[in-house]
Amino acid sequence: MTVGRAGEMVWAGEEQRSWSRQLQRAPLQTGNYSGRLFRLGPRPKFHREEVGVGNYSGASSDSVLGQNFHRESWFRRDCGAGLRYVEVNKDGAGVSWCWAMLAAMSDPRPLVDLTPAQLSALVRSTVSHYEQRAEAFRAGTQDHDVSQNVDALLRYLPGPAPQRILDLGCGPGRDLSTFVARGHAPVGLDGAAAFVAMARAGGFEVWHQDLLALDLPAARFDGIFANAVLFHVPTQELGRVLRELHRTLVTGGVLMCSNPRGPDIERVQGLRFGSYLTLETWSSFVTAAGFELIEHYFRPPGRPREEQPWLATVWRAL
Ligand SMILES: C[S@@+](CC[C@H](N)C(=O)[O-])C[C@H]1O[C@@H](n2cnc3c(N)ncnc32)[C@H](O)[C@@H]1O
Repeated sequence: MTVGRAGEMVWAGEEQRSWSRQLQRAPLQTGNYSGRLFRLGPRPKFHREEVGVGNYSGASSDSVLGQNFHRESWFRRDCGAGLRYVEVNKDGAGVSWCWAMLAAMSDPRPLVDLTPAQLSALVRSTVSHYEQRAEAFRAGTQDHDVSQNVDALLRYLPGPAPQRILDLGCGPGRDLSTFVARGHAPVGLDGAAAFVAMARAGGFEVWHQDLLALDLPAARFDGIFANAVLFHVPTQELGRVLRELHRTLVTGGVLMCSNPRGPDIERVQGLRFGSYLTLETWSSFVTAAGFELIEHYFRPPGRPREEQPWLATVWRAL
């Protein structure tokens, strides 16, 4: 259930009553919310008008945000761990419009707490792992068949080609070529200077940036391809990084991620840091950053689950 669609169904008879029953099971929480505030137009169209982005506190008094909000009409719906959809109904039931707030509650707890010095040491050693074997990595991965993941991104993009795609952690640029061949307009991003040089030599636009210090323009991309890269982000920073990715996508843009999965552990192997999460834990981080899951699958295809170490998830930016 997305925020938009949930909002569109807010006051639909029995639907509303059953929602209210569900919502009453959990006590209303007073607190701080951050997210996007919408005003929903009248039924049946319910167009959404965004009226604010930022931090709000609410539900502790009759006047939430200082105006127009009345406590007796607060409802909330859990849309997955970490994400709450809060509806605020002006002046009681039966109104023709209401306010809705997407409240991104605090991120799930990190698996490991790291100091800033530890974080930057992990980034440095992970990137240097790739720098040291850049040529061998290119030779070893240039024929990898990731068409299943490419197709999963492309089929959900919000419009026809050319779409603007960020290939996050693009490495030597194999998939940049694929996106161009499919008629799209990709930009690569990587932290390893050797890979940036290789991908640029292929004629692509590539940004040299650290995943933990991204500097991305707002609403710049229709899709993000994050193939085998976000597992390098410690869970302590994952929510923040995912929100940066959300911000650089247009509303309705698509995020495709493929990560090695595991029993919720973080570890360093050789020089490389990685987090290995279950579908549930991974999803709780991405959902809290404002995405809705479209599809997931395990890779490689056609094998028993224990021989499928990769978890692919495809998300829509709300
Ligand atoms: C396993 S490789 C995947 C490369 C490519 N996406 C592919 O599918 O072949 C991980 C990539 O993430 C990049 N990377 C790792 N940590 C990074 C960081 N902190 N900032 C930017 N890039 C990083 C590496 O340089 C490398 O290109």
